[in-house]
Amino acid sequence: MDRIDTAETLYLRVAGYYRRAIRSGALAAGDRLPSLRALTRLHGVSLSTVVQACHCLEDEGLLEARPRSGYFVRAARGSTLQPVREPDVGRPPSLPDPAVFAGIHARVSDFVAKCERFPTHTNLAQAFGPPEVYPLEALRNAAIRALRRHPEVLVNPVPPLGDAGFRSVLARRAVAAGMSPAPDEILVTHGCTEALNLALRAVAAPGDVIAVESPAYFGLLQVIESLGLRALEIPTSPSRGLSVEALELAIRTHPDLRAVVVVPNFQNPLGCVMPDGEKARLVELCSGAGVALIEDDIYGALDDDDQSLKACKAWDRDGSVIHCASFHKTLAPGMRVGWMLGGRWLDRIRMLKHAQSRPNDALAQLAIGEFMAGSAYDRHLVRLRRHLLAQRTHMAEAIATHFPAGTRLNPPGGGMLLWVELPAGCDSMAVFDAALRSGIRVAPGAMFSNSGRFDHFLRICCGAAYSPSIEAALRTLARIVSAG
Ligand SMILES: Cc1ncc(COP(=O)(O)O)c(C=O)c1O
Repeated sequence: MDRIDTAETLYLRVAGYYRRAIRSGALAAGDRLPSLRALTRLHGVSLSTVVQACHCLEDEGLLEARPRSGYFVRAARGSTLQPVREPDVGRPPSLPDPAVFAGIHARVSDFVAKCERFPTHTNLAQAFGPPEVYPLEALRNAAIRALRRHPEVLVNPVPPLGDAGFRSVLARRAVAAGMSPAPDEILVTHGCTEALNLALRAVAAPGDVIAVESPAYFGLLQVIESLGLRALEIPTSPSRGLSVEALELAIRTHPDLRAVVVVPNFQNPLGCVMPDGEKARLVELCSGAGVALIEDDIYGALDDDDQSLKACKAWDRDGSVIHCASFHKTLAPGMRVGWMLGGRWLDRIRMLKHAQSRPNDALAQLAIGEFMAGSAYDRHLVRLRRHLLAQRTHMAEAIATHFPAGTRLNPPGGGMLLWVELPAGCDSMAVFDAALRSGIRVAPGAMFSNSGRFDHFLRICCGAAYSPSIEAALRTLARIVSAG
C-alpha cells in the first residue's frame, strides 16, 4: 500500500528517518539530536509532530530525554551482544541419517505434551501476539457488517477459489510486495500451513528431497515429514538468509531435489531478511534448474520501517515461484485465513485443495475483506509494528543485561522473534524443561533442525507487552542458562 501521509502518520516518517540513522551508525550512542525547533525546520513539520516522533523513538528504547538538554541516542544493550555466528557454506549439504531425520515429529509432540503437563504463566514460545495487539473490536464489527450485507453467507456454497471480493482486496494489496496477481490466480487456504501442504504435494512425490533453510520453522519440517518427503538443510545466514551458493551446490549434488522452501522476510526462527539481490538470484537459480521455489511470506508486513518488503514472487517470470501467506501473525490468529499463488502449478493445486478440504468458510473472508478494503488495516499494521519493535528492544536489552557472557543475538529489523545463541555447551532442551517447571515456555533450538547444530539456541517471541512478569521470567531464564 502507498504510504499514508496524514498528520497521524507524518511523525512515523520523522521517527523512521532517525531510526535508520541510529541503525546505520550515522548517529551513535550518546549523540544529541538537533533541538525540537531545529527538527521542525529540518523536516518541515509541526512541533507536535517532532515531539510525537521523539516519544515514539523513546518508547522503542532508541532515544532518551535528558532534562533541559534534549534527546540523546541511547546505548542499546541488545545490540552490544555479539551477532549469531555465520554458517559454513563451503561444505556440500547432506541429508541426515534417516533415523535422525524422523525426529521432528517426535520432538514437537514431546514439546506439546510437556507444555500441556505444566501450567505456564509466561509464554515466550508462541510466534504470534496476544489478543490485545489485534483489532478485535474492528474485526467483530467488520464481521457483523459482512453478515448484514450478505445474510445468506452461512447457507450459500463458497466459490472454489474463495470469496471473489476478498481475492480482489488481496490482489490489490499484493502490489506493494512487487506482485501483480489477477484475483482468479489467488486461492484462499486454511492458513499458511494448508498452502505449504498443497504447494509441496503439487511439486513433489514421497521420497523426493526438499531444500529448507537451516534452521527452519518446525511446522514446515513437520509438513515435509508427514508427506514422506526428505528435508535437506541448506546453510542459512542469520543476517542474509538462505545461502544461494549452498543451494546451487545442493541442486548439483541431489538430482531428486524438487523444491526449496524459504521464508524470505523475517525468517522463523532467525528473524533475518534476504536482500533483494539474493531473492532475485534465488528465483533465477530455481527457474534455470527447474526446481520449484515455495516462499512463505507470513511475516513480510512487519517491517519496522513501514516499507513494503518484496516477495521473491516479484522476480518470477515463468511461474516457478509458489507464494504462500496468511493473516495469522498480522491480523487474526483465530481466523485461520491464508492464501496462495500457485504459479505454474495452479491447476494442480486447485485440484488438490478441492480433494483435500474444499473451499474455506466465507464469513472469515468477508470480514477480513471488509476490514482490509479501507485504511484501517494500514493503521493497525503501523501500531503493531511499533509495538513489536518496542517489545523486541526491551527483550533484547534484558537478555543482554541478564544472560551470561557468550550469549549472542542479532536484533532483527522487524517481526516478533529473537533467535538467541546460548554459550557453547548449553543444552536448550534442558533449559526448556527447567523453564517449564518454573512456568515459562520457550522454544528450544532443537525443534528447528534435524542437524543438532542449534541445540544451544532458544527462540523467544516478543509479541506480549513488556511487563514486570516478563522481566522476571527473563531473569529466571538467565539463571537457568547460567546454571546449565
Ligand atoms: C514461517 C511460518 N509459516 C507458517 C506458519 C503457520 O501459519 P498458519 O498459522 O497461517 O498456518 C508459521 C507459524 O508460526 C510460521 O512461523
